[in-house]
Amino acid sequence: MQALDTQTTIAVIGAGAMGSGIAQVAAQAGHRVYLHDQRDGAATAGRDGIAKQLQRRVDKGKMEQQAVDAIVSRIHPVNALSEVADSRMVIEAIIEDLEIKHSLLTDLEELCSKDTILATNTSSISVTALGAKLRHPERLVGMHFFNPAPLMALVEVVKGLATDNAIAEIVHATAANWGKKPVFATSTPGFIVNRVARPFYAESLRLLQEGAADPATLDAIIREAGNFRMGPFELTDLIGHDVNYAVTNSVFKAYYQDARFLPSLIQKELVEAGRLGRKSGQGFYSYTDGSERPAP
Ligand code: NAI
Repeated sequence: MQALDTQTTIAVIGAGAMGSGIAQVAAQAGHRVYLHDQRDGAATAGRDGIAKQLQRRVDKGKMEQQAVDAIVSRIHPVNALSEVADSRMVIEAIIEDLEIKHSLLTDLEELCSKDTILATNTSSISVTALGAKLRHPERLVGMHFFNPAPLMALVEVVKGLATDNAIAEIVHATAANWGKKPVFATSTPGFIVNRVARPFYAESLRLLQEGAADPATLDAIIREAGNFRMGPFELTDLIGHDVNYAVTNSVFKAYYQDARFLPSLIQKELVEAGRLGRKSGQGFYSYTDGSERPAP
């Protein structure tokens, strides 16, 4: 199946960590990209963040200024959702919440043409369930990137029960065209990566709760002895505790409260305190002065 032509327009809804990263990936591949967020100024801030990051590559001599300018000029922040109507594919990367995603997807179905592909970057919510409110659930497919999207190669292409195979194939080919390594997955809770990652986080949080060691020590041991690139606490600080906690809850619920997936009270507290990790300046570590150190 053919990848989407780079002359087509892609829309990304949600200009947070993932949406901005996905917009960058699509623009780098040559697409015109609409970036929309319901928070005032967030889409423009998302584009500015991309420009700043790419500028660092120019400063290091790793990219040409012209290439960066071209990529940034292809990203168009839009204030109204209706402005994305002529997109060939819309990728949603908003909050991990079934009802809010339902509402967005049904709005998109009203706005866009019947040929527009609807893709969701959900980390854990069933693509089948997300499609249940659509008149044409066959055009909804999971396109699950990893954080940070411009750097991480893997993309899970998730088929719900109703997803049209041909559309999943187009999304798979498009991800490959964007320089990614796509894999097909079914709509099982947490798909592949977030399913196998659950015990990694859960056991680490249990160790912490039992007082085995502090987060920095546990991260160092897992990095050095386990050869992981990041330990569980620095990784969940990067992902965002609101997102990671929502994913754990969603998998826990989907498996009928199986104790293996029990959410952690430590993480719940962090979310309630607004200590969401890097994005809020504090999580298990503090990032307020630009350095990473254990949170007080
Ligand atoms: P984030 O909190 O950084 O960004 C979410 C953005 O969506 C915010 O800017 C918010 O204002 C916006 N938003 C919320 N509701 C909206 C609506 N109805 N319409 C338009 N904009 C809306 O979250 P993040 O980390 O970017 O996650 C987004 C999605 O990507 C979630 O579904 C998450 O599970 C998934 N994901 C997250 C990963 C991570 O490591 N953080 C990795 C892979 C997927």
